[in-house]
Amino acid sequence: MEKKPIYEGKAKQVFTTANPDELVVYFKDDATALNGEKKGTIINKGVLNNKISTFFFELLGKHGIPHHFIRLLSDREMLVKRLDILKVEVVVRNITAGSLAKRIGWEEGKKLSRPVLEMYYKNDELGDPLINDYHIYAMGLAQPEQVAKMAEYALKINSILSGYLKAKKLELIDFKLEFGLHNGEVLLGDEISPDTCRFWDSETGEKLDKDRFRRDLGNVEEAYHEILFRLTGEKA
Ligand code: TMP
Repeated sequence: MEKKPIYEGKAKQVFTTANPDELVVYFKDDATALNGEKKGTIINKGVLNNKISTFFFELLGKHGIPHHFIRLLSDREMLVKRLDILKVEVVVRNITAGSLAKRIGWEEGKKLSRPVLEMYYKNDELGDPLINDYHIYAMGLAQPEQVAKMAEYALKINSILSGYLKAKKLELIDFKLEFGLHNGEVLLGDEISPDTCRFWDSETGEKLDKDRFRRDLGNVEEAYHEILFRLTGEKA
């Protein structure tokens, strides 16, 4: 079968392969924020996010988290297992920032006494509203065992990544995960990158993630390069 595009999102494109169980994800440089109102390009973001996500999937795999990543194919492409994506976005937060800071009226940068797990309905038209497990079951978005697995994996991923990043002088403020089903099994999908996580320098508090784009802070490309460099020592 030909390599055929089957999906184009804000930051990625997905293609079929000769194997119906496998897909190619192509990482673009396009960036959007404010639910698509703000559009731009972050030069080489696709290359950097492909490499950063590869690094994180491999790290999580070594710690027993099942994921869709199979292997890197090129600078901007990875081969993944085909998933039926669950329409639930899972966010874990360690420090207040972004929408949580607004919702609870706390300033950004306050340590939460324990990680906060949130679920959002993956629906662009609605701007991905916050939901809870009652909504998920009532709407038939996922089964209780699947929600339990997503929560278990998300909190375990938080421990693994927070510890790893601390050693690299980075604080994991919060992050968003997506999961899907492959042969009935819940696997981690999508990407893990500065587009989907907040990383702050442990010493200076400098933001090294997509908030630099969202908030027009400048040095956007530099921040993505710095994350790859701290993780792998690689200068892309
Ligand atoms: P939030 O504070 O804006 O709700 O974002 C929480 C985390 O989720 C943050 O690390 C950025 C990530 N995120 C995405 O990956 N995609 C999105 O569409 C949004 C709104 C947030």
